[in-house]
This record gives sequence, structure tokens and C-alpha cells, in this order.
Amino acid sequence: MIMIDFKPSFRLAPALPLNKKRLLLQKLTDRRCFIMQLTQKERMLLEDQKKHEEVCIRKYTEAAEKANDPELKQLYSTYAAQEQQHYQTLEQMLAGQIPQQNDQAGQGAGQGQGIQAAGAVGRQGMQSGAGSKIDEDLCNDLLMTEKYVSGTYDTAIFEFTDSRARQTLNHIQKEEQQHGEGIFKYMQAHGMYQPS
Ligand SMILES: [Fe+2]
Ligand SMILES: [Fe+2]
Repeated sequence: MIMIDFKPSFRLAPALPLNKKRLLLQKLTDRRCFIMQLTQKERMLLEDQKKHEEVCIRKYTEAAEKANDPELKQLYSTYAAQEQQHYQTLEQMLAGQIPQQNDQAGQGAGQGQGIQAAGAVGRQGMQSGAGSKIDEDLCNDLLMTEKYVSGTYDTAIFEFTDSRARQTLNHIQKEEQQHGEGIFKYMQAHGMYQPS
């Protein structure tokens, strides 16, 4: 395992104010990653997950257009952006790099936004009553998709040699579960899902 640490230089941006330099330093520091050698099996699994993420991006983007409730549109747009992040992470892994996990930035920040958005949706939903049939169908379809994708990440994780790669995939899987929770909460608030 080789760790690459990008050493930023401010000589390229001497005119930047100090706060901007700090932000730039943080961004460059976040680019730190580890190099790994993939087995053929790991590569195949990552390619599969990449295809799943493509489907998720497409589904959430289309659902954001089709949904009637503006709050649901917002939720789907947020999730579409997070699926795009997952796709990019997988591409990075296929290039032999493992992004360094940082729960306070990057994907970690996206997770919190997703859950907060779902919470806001749920509260508004309780005020506005039952959702439309179109919205219910979209929710059911996406909830089913999240269950499936989360399951495939779980299977893939068991095949990885490098524990940092496992952590990265586990991080993505956690976000898939949070997407499922966000949709579940929306459905529950709109009388679309009544767990007995
Ligand atoms: Fe995803
Ligand atoms: Fe997801």
C-alpha cells in the first residue's frame, strides 16, 4: 500500500486571501488517496456496481422530473447528485485509487443533507396530506432499487482484499441505506407505507 499525499503550493496563487488559501489547502488535502492493485474479481464487481450507479443516477434524475410534489423532486435531485458521487468513487477505485475517507467532508456531508432533506419532506408531507399515485409509484420503484443496490454492495464488500477499499464501499452502502430511509420516511408521512 502506497499513500500519495499531494503537497499543495500557494506559489501559483499568491494573490489569494488567507481564508481562500485555507479552503484551497483543505480541498487539496482531501485529494489524498491510497493506491491498490485490483484482482480480476474486484474489477468485475466494481464494474457491476458502476452499472448499478448509472441506473440510480438515471432513475433519480427522471423521478425528479416526473414527481408532482416539489419536496419529493428536491429529495430525488439530492440523491441523484449523491449517486453521481458514488459513480465517481467507483471510477477512481477502478483506476487503482482508494479515496481517503473523511466523514466530515465530501460524501460525508452529502449523507447528512440527504437525511435532513428527507426529514423536511416528511414534515411537510404530514401537513399536505396524501401524495399522488405517480409519486407513490416512483417511491416504490426507488425504494426497491435501493434495497437491491445496498444488497449488491454488501456482497461485493466481502470479496475485497484491501480493508480501505471495504471501508469505501461500506461508506457508499451506508448512503444507499440512508436513501432508502429518506424514501421510507416520505412514504410513511404520506400514508404510502404503513409498516404493521
Ligand atoms: Fe449509489
Ligand atoms: Fe442510493
